[in-house]
Amino acid sequence: MNELKILLIGCGKMGGSLLEGIVKSDNFDGMVDIIEPSIQGFPKEDFKQRKVNFYSDIEEKRDTINYDLIIVATKPDTYEEIFNGLKNNLIINDKTLIVSILAGIKISKIEEIVGSAPIVRAMPNIAASVLEGMTALIGNKKITNKDILNVDLIFELIGEKIWLENEKQMDSFTAISGSGPAYFFFFTECLKSIAIEEGFTEDVSNKIS
Ligand SMILES: NC(=O)c1ccc[n+]([C@@H]2O[C@H](COP(=O)([O-])OP(=O)(O)OC[C@H]3O[C@@H](n4cnc5c(N)ncnc54)[C@H](OP(=O)(O)O)[C@@H]3O)[C@@H](O)[C@H]2O)c1
Repeated sequence: MNELKILLIGCGKMGGSLLEGIVKSDNFDGMVDIIEPSIQGFPKEDFKQRKVNFYSDIEEKRDTINYDLIIVATKPDTYEEIFNGLKNNLIINDKTLIVSILAGIKISKIEEIVGSAPIVRAMPNIAASVLEGMTALIGNKKITNKDILNVDLIFELIGEKIWLENEKQMDSFTAISGSGPAYFFFFTECLKSIAIEEGFTEDVSNKIS
């Protein structure tokens, strides 16, 4: 049983998938604090059996918990506000790993704000929403073997993962694995159009394409 202490900032589509993976897992017996402005939309009953706590703002969370992992899953354009909020309200030290899933925000940009801290960039693809994703990972020089094991554990809850050789590969991964499902959906749409042209009903065309 893993007893990690996790703070998840932003629980929308991707943060919600991570939370789902975590609460459904038998390998996770830790706690998750969530900061999310739209918390009223969450079915909190589902989380009663788990150590999951909701907060609407990081200002509510000024405390001394030493998280093992802080996962940031907000929109990329708010990264300065989010990482400044983290730095000003929580203890950031060499023991707390920051995991950012923000598309396009390089590790150096995060370091400029939070200073010296272990940081991992993670890029799950859309299939993570059905817990069958592929996540690319890259960390800075501060991450430890324990951090790597913890990150592996979390992202394996929503599918598979690969560690990249360098951060440049993140853009290529995003182009290939991020867009891949869209090509696949386009392909099935083409098959469906052909089926309709061949005289099948829409319902049957959906089924056979
Ligand atoms: N969706 C994907 O397939 C995908 C794939 C790879 C990476 N990503 C990355 O994942 C991140 C999230 O994407 P998403 O699709 O999950 O977006 P999303 O559904 O909009 O989720 C973002 C969540 O963050 C919340 N939020 C906004 N300001 C906040 C704050 N100050 N503190 C805490 N939470 C805050 C938002 O609440 P409100 O709605 O109330 O503002 C929203 O629920 C993005 O950076 C994106 O680049 C997404």
